[in-house]
Amino acid sequence: MTRFDHLFQHGLEELAEQGRLRTPRSLQPRADGILEREDGTLLVDFSSNDYLGLRAHPLLRERALIWAARYGTGSGASRLVTGTAPGMVALEARLAALKGMEAACMFSSGWQANATLVPALAQISLAATGAPPQVIVDKFIHASLYHAVPRRACSRCVSGIMTWRIWKACCGRLMVRV
Ligand SMILES: Cc1ncc(COP(=O)(O)O)c(C=O)c1O
Repeated sequence: MTRFDHLFQHGLEELAEQGRLRTPRSLQPRADGILEREDGTLLVDFSSNDYLGLRAHPLLRERALIWAARYGTGSGASRLVTGTAPGMVALEARLAALKGMEAACMFSSGWQANATLVPALAQISLAATGAPPQVIVDKFIHASLYHAVPRRACSRCVSGIMTWRIWKACCGRLMVRV
């Protein structure tokens, strides 16, 4: 027991009352896109981001093994602290060329990308216009974007089509559509 336990307990009960309590479930992902529950039930996985099934692709698996053998299994530190591996530099150069851009920047997750890019754009907007940025977002955006969008700047919409209408109406102003 710690002196914070009653606070945690209260928080958990509140979430449960609101139907928002989430608990991690044990599911074993299989290479064929099937998820297996502990009781043996098989589920078709329609919820992952592995849309193309690339995580099980033999060539990617083989390359990942080579890289793990060469460099280990973790970055060790942020690239800003200990530098960027040459392989990552090469990958970013290839992605930039693929997209016809000056440069590309890899993030370790979608959450990280949103949490980094949206505030950066908001800051640029503020510096350019002197006014808090107008960020029009769909009501159902990913949680990472709720975290990323500056609160004062954010006005939320109810649907994708509404977002699009506002986007068109505001054309010409510096906005981020997410
Ligand atoms: C639109 C969007 N943004 C961000 C994320 C978070 O990505 P990650 O799980 O790589 O952090 C997701 C994940 O599904 C997403 O769909």
